[in-house]
Amino acid sequence: MRILGIESSCDECAAAVVEDGRTILSSVVATQIPVHAKYDGVVPELASRKHVEWISGVVGEALRTAGMKPSGLDGIAATARPGLIGALLVGLSYAKAMAWALDKPFVGINHILAHLYAPRLSGDIACPYIGLLVSGGHTLICRVDGFDDIIVLGTTIDDAVGEAFDKTARHFGFGYPGGLAIDVLARKGDPLAFRFPVPNLHKGEHRYDVSYSGLKTAAIRQLEQFRAPGSEASPENIAASFEKAAIDLLVSRLLRAVDDTGIRVVVAGGGVAANSYLRNLLGERKDLDVRFPPLELCGDNGAMIAGLAFERFRRGDRDPFTLNASPRVPVFRRLPGRSGA
Ligand code: KG4
Ligand code: ZN
Repeated sequence: MRILGIESSCDECAAAVVEDGRTILSSVVATQIPVHAKYDGVVPELASRKHVEWISGVVGEALRTAGMKPSGLDGIAATARPGLIGALLVGLSYAKAMAWALDKPFVGINHILAHLYAPRLSGDIACPYIGLLVSGGHTLICRVDGFDDIIVLGTTIDDAVGEAFDKTARHFGFGYPGGLAIDVLARKGDPLAFRFPVPNLHKGEHRYDVSYSGLKTAAIRQLEQFRAPGSEASPENIAASFEKAAIDLLVSRLLRAVDDTGIRVVVAGGGVAANSYLRNLLGERKDLDVRFPPLELCGDNGAMIAGLAFERFRRGDRDPFTLNASPRVPVFRRLPGRSGA
């Protein structure tokens, strides 16, 4: 089964053709980062307009690289939620129009579940496992019982982890998104140079939660001091200490989930899953079976959309062309006693 997956939820205009949920025949990602860089963040209206300009070319290139005609596809899918509503509508409408014109099955895909599917493009992973979704918009620690069956154990109570990297990076003078730039700078610094505050979220319903607003503020304050005359602090040390604090917090909550559930398979996804400190730290855990997507599948891409769509098509799912895009995070099951979406 050859599926076309389209992703346009934020600032990447992407399409891929994937065979049987495993073999990536093509994956094209056109990034809008240069378009948004001067605004220090994604401008939703500009994102939608660029998707409109680029989507035909990106889909065409994905089909050409896969050596396929549209008529050879067995199904068409696009991200339906969550994301920027205007940006989502471009990819979703394109996919629906294509599926209607070609008389092909169509499904709309949940972007969060697709990130968690990305490591499965490299090989089967038996459920249940602990999912770690870390991106610019989301931070989730969850128990994954099936490709669309997850229970959220923990999340952030304020900023997403990638958002904390991006906001802190701005104060280093890095453009948007700055996560990778902090990661690169941190490699040259001493992670033990500064001790940043650890949020006091240990008990009850916050047992697996994280918080980043305090850490972000502390790192920014440290940077301001570094600029003061006579300061011996270095940006490298601040970056390394910030990165260590941010990732150690995440990993401590993840390990709590592993210990409490007894599930020792951990599957990461999302842009921050590209972070080298996180990959090394979890990679060293010989007591865990840790799966990361390859770097090119950590950020937004069409292959994860096509991969998850394959599972849904195989189960017999079809979505109607009336399916609408939604900016909202879907309501997942949560641990009993927890509130919120
Ligand atoms: O999954 P993604 O491409 O888009 C969202 O759905 O948000 O994730 C982008 C996020 C940005 O916040 C970016 O700064 C962060 O991933 N990121 C990183 C690294 N590479 C990308 N954060 C830390 N270290 C990295 N190496
Ligand atoms: Zn994403």
